Amino acid sequence: MAAAEHLTREQKQTSDMSLDVKKARKETPGTRNVAHFNNAGASLMPLPVTDAVKAYLQLESDIGGYEAAAKSAEQIGAVYQSVARLLNANPAEIALMESATRAWDMAFYALDFKPGERILTASNEYASNFIAFLQARKRYGVDIGIVENDEHGQISLEALREAMDERVKLVALTHVATNDGLVQPAEEVGKIVKEAGALYLLDACQSAGQLCLDVRKIQCDFLSATGRKYLRGPRGTGFLYVKREMIEKLEPPLLDLQAANWVSPDSYEIRGDARRFEAFESSLACRMGLGAAVDYALGWGMEAIQERIAELATALRSELSKIPGITVHDRGERKGGIVTFASDRISPSEIQDKLRSLSINVAVTQARHTRLDMEARRLDGLVRASVHYFNTEDEIARLGLELARIQTAAAL
Ligand SMILES: Cc1ncc(COP(=O)(O)O)c(C=O)c1O
Repeated sequence: MAAAEHLTREQKQTSDMSLDVKKARKETPGTRNVAHFNNAGASLMPLPVTDAVKAYLQLESDIGGYEAAAKSAEQIGAVYQSVARLLNANPAEIALMESATRAWDMAFYALDFKPGERILTASNEYASNFIAFLQARKRYGVDIGIVENDEHGQISLEALREAMDERVKLVALTHVATNDGLVQPAEEVGKIVKEAGALYLLDACQSAGQLCLDVRKIQCDFLSATGRKYLRGPRGTGFLYVKREMIEKLEPPLLDLQAANWVSPDSYEIRGDARRFEAFESSLACRMGLGAAVDYALGWGMEAIQERIAELATALRSELSKIPGITVHDRGERKGGIVTFASDRISPSEIQDKLRSLSINVAVTQARHTRLDMEARRLDGLVRASVHYFNTEDEIARLGLELARIQTAAAL
């Protein structure tokens, strides 16, 4: 599918701005210090994000935390609108959370599983999610099904279609895994899940801010994401989308006086919007930063971001493939900005340390983060170099050069 087809009307309106990499780097002070290839870990925040966080903290310092919240009610409300725009959702369908995991958990643990019901997932599912499946199996006697992959390494749509029976309550998919360039066919999966009448939970932690996301097209009931990765927001932020029709059907696993109202000594009433999944206390400064990050991404346009990331990742894979003893491990019919590789002579963490000493940031992805997938591919760990639109071709060449030097030195 052409990238533009993923876009909502509003995203299309804002995507006319071309991606001026020079400007993006000027607005990202961290690019002066490091060649940052750890955008799938936590990206470099742009100035509008740090400015928003600092300004809000200053306001709290100047007039008091509660008073700052009252004064900024409109701007805080605008964060929900921004996240909703990013996803083509309604602001009432958005809950702001402190991480992607907590967002995912609030949806998952709200589901009322019965013994014998099935959860279907794919082999690239993230550790925290899979641990929750195992806990649900222990608690409720649910069955966990792993849908097999097709020849590209992504979830087989045929196998998924065959596995959908009346026992399947939930299909949970990780859109982009922490350890692979592979992008799962989230829309095609949504079509199959909805035809079968099951629920669909999408972990968009690595795709939010990287790929165009439209929850109406994906047809997910829930979507979780973080602020600090491809969205370039502050740490400690995330969000949950819950489809409007699902909100009132779900009682969150945890409630407080913001999520619910204590209306009589014996009773409470839960809010009617997705904020029933939130807690009262949060870092509003970081939330303002998240809002600024989403607006910043939409300002460039998700289509332009998505295209540049894919181009840079292709260039990086090709650069790495030229280095003797380096193997690129990414699979997928469609690949995104996460590039993974291994050396035949030096461990991923040694590569990470050596590159860090040269101010080049990469990450290490361990088998325990995506155990099913890594074990199936007999991998213990990989180096992960994740590109963003503000990375440059020069930085990619430098990473290639330094890695080649590291390889040569290790062979001596
Ligand atoms: C696919 C995926 N899901 C979930 C998470 C967890 O996100 P958080 O640390 O914000 O809870 C990660 C983090 O790397 C991830 O890669």
